[in-house]
Amino acid sequence: MVEIATSLLSLEKEENLQTLYNLEVAGTDYFHIDVMDGKFVKKDTTDLMRRYTETIEQITTTPIEVHLMVEDVEAYVKAYVDMGVKSITFHIESCKREKEIRNLIAYIKEHNIQVGLTLKPNTNIEEIYPYLPYLHRVLVMSVEPGAGGQEFIEGSIEKIRKLNAFAYENGYDITIEVDGGMNEKTVPKVVEAGADIVVVGSYMFQSNNYKETIAKLKA
Ligand code: DX5
Ligand code: ZN
Repeated sequence: MVEIATSLLSLEKEENLQTLYNLEVAGTDYFHIDVMDGKFVKKDTTDLMRRYTETIEQITTTPIEVHLMVEDVEAYVKAYVDMGVKSITFHIESCKREKEIRNLIAYIKEHNIQVGLTLKPNTNIEEIYPYLPYLHRVLVMSVEPGAGGQEFIEGSIEKIRKLNAFAYENGYDITIEVDGGMNEKTVPKVVEAGADIVVVGSYMFQSNNYKETIAKLKA
């Protein structure tokens, strides 16, 4: 059954404590923390996302997954490894050299945190193949990183299918996660293509019954 990671990018500050608690009770499998540095993408969510992470740590037992949309990956990895998060995923486009990516993967794993690589819609899936043996997760962006509420990019389905087939053929035990434009229409398509986790932002916050929404997407 597909797992649901709720993205907090669309969550307004003032409502968050009760909402986080309601989401935990509704059964979200993860909280998805969208860290944006204002350089890799225009928006800067660094302070807000750090506060959300601290709050979630204090009031729920739901695991936290971090999606770094930043240029200085090392600095943000160092900041989040000490915050008790379950996984950290960074963009392959943020790193210039293969050696840097390998060092970051090793550093995250040394801190007993799951590691993922993510890629923008225009980046070929083949670019992450060399790292698959070392990754726990691959996050396939089905929208351009930087904002919630965007349209799902249909081309993502082929990417997910190719990744799923390649991982299977090579015996890589990779969790495939899809992020962006997830709703009751797009989730079945990406699950059929091989997605294990879907990140849901605006669709979740448009609903007035999180439990129902989560159950519908998992069905
Ligand atoms: C976009 C973020 C996504 C986004 C998903 O840069 O990485 O996690 O918040 O939001 P929706 O579900 O509204 O596309
Ligand atoms: Zn995200």
